[in-house]
Amino acid sequence: MPTVLIIGASQGLGLEWVKYYKQHGYDVIATTRNLDLAIELKQTLTGENDKILQLDVVNEDSVSLAMNQIPEAPDITIYNAGVKGYTKSPDTKATLLNATLKAGETSSRDAGRKLAFEVNAHGFDRVIFALKDKLLAKPQATVAYISTGVAETSQNTSGGYPFYRQSKAAGESYAKEYDEDFRQVPDCTPTSRPRVFSLIPGLVNTGMGAGIDGAAEPVKRVAEMAAVIKHVKLTGDTYGVWKYDGTKNMQHDLPESVANVFNTDTKDSAAKILANVGLYQIEKNATAENQINETKFANGK
Ligand SMILES: NC(=O)c1ccc[n+]([C@@H]2O[C@H](COP(=O)([O-])OP(=O)(O)OC[C@H]3O[C@@H](n4cnc5c(N)ncnc54)[C@H](OP(=O)(O)O)[C@@H]3O)[C@@H](O)[C@H]2O)c1
Repeated sequence: MPTVLIIGASQGLGLEWVKYYKQHGYDVIATTRNLDLAIELKQTLTGENDKILQLDVVNEDSVSLAMNQIPEAPDITIYNAGVKGYTKSPDTKATLLNATLKAGETSSRDAGRKLAFEVNAHGFDRVIFALKDKLLAKPQATVAYISTGVAETSQNTSGGYPFYRQSKAAGESYAKEYDEDFRQVPDCTPTSRPRVFSLIPGLVNTGMGAGIDGAAEPVKRVAEMAAVIKHVKLTGDTYGVWKYDGTKNMQHDLPESVANVFNTDTKDSAAKILANVGLYQIEKNATAENQINETKFANGK
């Protein structure tokens, strides 16, 4: 049975990921900070090989303890844990300039910033670093970092989301860095190397997006994102930042050679590949990735 690891799984999108992968025949390893509060998670994960682990990503010991209980890398790892790092009254826009920033009950700008960066960025580094040797031993192990559309600095025309934006951008940067580092490990081939990439859910009717007009239902959104994860696992196309609908943020920023390889319109390409799942696509894209590597080499990267 394939295995999926979901970090931060007791509620919202995390719990929806759990339900999705259970319905699709996976063994699920789910983490949560408080086992006593994770009632629905416990009711959902009753399979012989399912596991629920206690994990607070802010705490390094907690990360090592939990990751040591996972014998081999999951086929898919989803870093879903995330916090806003501030609270606000309904009629106030939270910005870097005002004083409504809070972490939990602690009213402190420092505490809010620290929490956002610890959970949204450094926690991701802790988890992947703890898993790195296992990931390298599992061909095509795929890691999705759940980001947000507001992390894209060049598209910030409204302000707001203090520390959330900045910390998620840092999380995306960790994902990119691990992906490049895995690529460069001797013996890693395009078809065997671990894949690490960022994935944007858009607005969803869960903890963070609850009650906002236009927010999608989690069941629909998770199914869409799972299709993107499947595509990245097959093709190794970790370039750019993926969105739930199979397009990419800032698609035009891809190097020309990469955009050509993936047919410029990645959504079409993803749909085709998902319609023809199989080794032929892996081989085809392995060749594509070799071309990408040659281009990068020529550019001195
Ligand atoms: N909902 C949206 O509209 C939206 C939009 C864009 C991006 N996102 C991203 O999607 C992800 C899930 O969002 P959501 O709406 O489902 O939020 P949510 O309901 O608030 O859930 C957040 C999850 O983060 C986990 N978490 C928080 N602090 C943690 C810590 N210190 N250690 C480990 N886990 C921790 C929690 O896990 P436990 O309580 O189980 O420990 C919880 O399941 C987040 O990364 C969020 O930034 C959401």
